[in-house]
Amino acid sequence: MEGRDLVRSLKAVGSAGAAQGVRTVRAAWRRRRADAAGLPPRGTERARVPGPVRNVEPGPGGGVVRFARSELRIAVAVNGAVFWGWDGVGPEPSYALAGCPEPDPRASLEPDKDGGWRVVAERVTVVVSRHGAVEVLTPGGVSLRRELPPRWWEPVGGGGTSRWMQRSEVAADARFFGLGGRASGPRLRDGAYRLWNTDPGRAFGPGDDPLYITMPVQLVVADAATHLVFYDTSWDGTVTLREGEEGAGSGHDRAGTCELRMDGGPLRCWMMVGTPARVLHTWATLTGAPAVPPSWALGHHHSRRGFGGEQEVRRIVAGYQQHDLPLDAVHLDIDHLDAHEVFTVDEEQFPKLPVLAEDLRRDGIRLVSIIDPAVKAEAGNAVYGSGRAEDAFVRDASGQLVQGVLWPGESVYPDFTHARVRAWWGRMYEERLGQGFAGFWHGMNEPTSFTAFGESTLPRSARHALEGLGGDHREAHNVYALCMARAAYEGLRELAPEERPFICSRSGWAGLQRYGGTWSGDVATGWPGLRASLSLVMGLGLCGVPYSGPDVGGFHGSPSPELYLRWFQLGAYLPLFRTHTSLRAGRREPWEFGADVLAHARVVLVERRRLVPYFMTLAHLARRTGAPYVRPLWWGAPEDRALRGCEDAFLLGDCLLVAPVLDPGADRRAVQLPRGRWYDTVTEQAYEGPGQVLVDAPLSRIPVLARAGAVVPVRGDDGGLELEAWAPARGRTGGGLAVSDAGDGWAEPEIERYVTRWKGRRVVVERDGEDGMSEPPRPVRVRGLHGR
Ligand code: NOJ
Repeated sequence: MEGRDLVRSLKAVGSAGAAQGVRTVRAAWRRRRADAAGLPPRGTERARVPGPVRNVEPGPGGGVVRFARSELRIAVAVNGAVFWGWDGVGPEPSYALAGCPEPDPRASLEPDKDGGWRVVAERVTVVVSRHGAVEVLTPGGVSLRRELPPRWWEPVGGGGTSRWMQRSEVAADARFFGLGGRASGPRLRDGAYRLWNTDPGRAFGPGDDPLYITMPVQLVVADAATHLVFYDTSWDGTVTLREGEEGAGSGHDRAGTCELRMDGGPLRCWMMVGTPARVLHTWATLTGAPAVPPSWALGHHHSRRGFGGEQEVRRIVAGYQQHDLPLDAVHLDIDHLDAHEVFTVDEEQFPKLPVLAEDLRRDGIRLVSIIDPAVKAEAGNAVYGSGRAEDAFVRDASGQLVQGVLWPGESVYPDFTHARVRAWWGRMYEERLGQGFAGFWHGMNEPTSFTAFGESTLPRSARHALEGLGGDHREAHNVYALCMARAAYEGLRELAPEERPFICSRSGWAGLQRYGGTWSGDVATGWPGLRASLSLVMGLGLCGVPYSGPDVGGFHGSPSPELYLRWFQLGAYLPLFRTHTSLRAGRREPWEFGADVLAHARVVLVERRRLVPYFMTLAHLARRTGAPYVRPLWWGAPEDRALRGCEDAFLLGDCLLVAPVLDPGADRRAVQLPRGRWYDTVTEQAYEGPGQVLVDAPLSRIPVLARAGAVVPVRGDDGGLELEAWAPARGRTGGGLAVSDAGDGWAEPEIERYVTRWKGRRVVVERDGEDGMSEPPRPVRVRGLHGR
């Protein structure tokens, strides 16, 4: 047993009692035995490369290039994305894809120089060398990514799975982002990043990797273009990145490199090229539009582990009301369950949950329930009984139920990779809706099973349906939470068809956005944790999952009042704005940190509520365009290299730039501005970008700057939608969008377009509609007119 494992097991014993500790030891042995018996031994392997090209077969969007020992299928899709798959593999089936786009009939295989082949498409040229290197170039011929011929290691004598390795080169100036939720980003420095969804088992900081959501998705920003590359395989693997170096005009640039080593699965890849906005748009057409959360989910959520019971919940809600603090949702963690068993209620602590839910709803506050996938393996447990009848639980290679350990003790795990099981699980949410819950957060779904040593998950040999194709946990692990989210989403669509589901899943994979969002997981309380929370939100947004946010204040312990406040101020500008904490952690209510923090937190909460229409607009735009709400500063200016390394500020939509305070003791901070004029939204002072400026950041607020010319939809005092316009720079125009959706339903709201311009000494705001320009049908307030 390694030191870290021992610490983990002791912690498990300490926190959940000795009996649970013993179970984790047993579970670890069981897991080890299951894998010893159920996994094929890794015997002798033979290395393989594609070998020389033999012939080609043109086909829609490209065709097949045959090599001596493999064949490469290439297809450019109508949405501009390029697919290639080795060993003849196609894009489907895939857990990531929302549907497979049609091939572009205009793209076809042509002979290239030196015996190679190429596919010329509208936005890219793909060149295949005669030994199987694949290079993607801009139409102008600049190389964006060059994949060297891959290499496989396959078991001698057949059977089993092949490991593979793919090396690639990118431009010397390229910077890497993505790979799911990473605590040390968003710019991914040189190093190895594992692709295996993992509960770190303790509160994590920037040094912890991997975490709950990993994805083989890289967004690469370079002068020539931005590209997103997705290796569509769910197996365990490692990506090793190394940024390139420019030779300062010497002509000796060193390319950036990426080496991907996978334990199995198909070697197939999607790549899309363009501006960051275009690339994310194409990605969303491929993997699905981000679900729009109900409007209440764009407000403030309060959560904690260890609400003692109904009285405690009512006391906290009353605290918010007495202190005049807006609150939109309360989350109940596993303590509200009967002995931590999923789809139950502790009737002693919560004797009338539906009444509590109804009372809260009357005050505009929704209840959200934790859902963990593990089901207590005990006769008499209703979910266990019905799951057994349905044959819903994961089995091992010998057909026995796989038993793991989670909060309720010995547990079994639904196999969400089976449509029938998803449908069964989805129906379970009826019980939750009956208790009055309006939303759901899925935890421990990496999936986690507490083990005293070894990996804290199911045995790799555990069998999964994988939509009828059959396979084991090595392939199913990373998509487990994605399939659980799908089960919940589809179930809720049946059970409550009028409402947009709210699902927040700790783990996930490419495509999670179709069903909902995520949160940071157990981020460590401390300034590094604060930084990590921003990294996660930005990185996930660039992988197509735009709705997320941290545990404000950190998961464990007690933040200082200053740290709490700075976290609160950042959280207010992230899509999910939720305070949450562990069982024995200190309080997180705003009034627990002194009068100053309370006053500043009130300003934050009031401002968040005022900005809900803007967040709603961003949610609808994310659905239509794939653009995340929270964007790195280089989003609109990837060519501005100074912005590429800038990780301590972000754009919230097109209109706002948020510069959180991430260090203690600061009362001003440097902000790297993209080009154009920016106004401090409190003082209205104007700053000119591009370049770095020093901006005041007193304890009472973090710098939030508005882009000159922007139109921000906000909530007026009467609850209606108003427009806050920021004066364009003289001689310039500007604009903004508003999507007015006040509700939780499916009605397709209209997108209102506004433009701002100077007319003499005035700034006018007009609506740009089908019949031309008109007066805005909403109150308008122009700001920044006296910007110094
Ligand atoms: C782990 C989750 O990440 C955390 O948010 C939650 O409080 C605990 N599980 C208990 O459900």
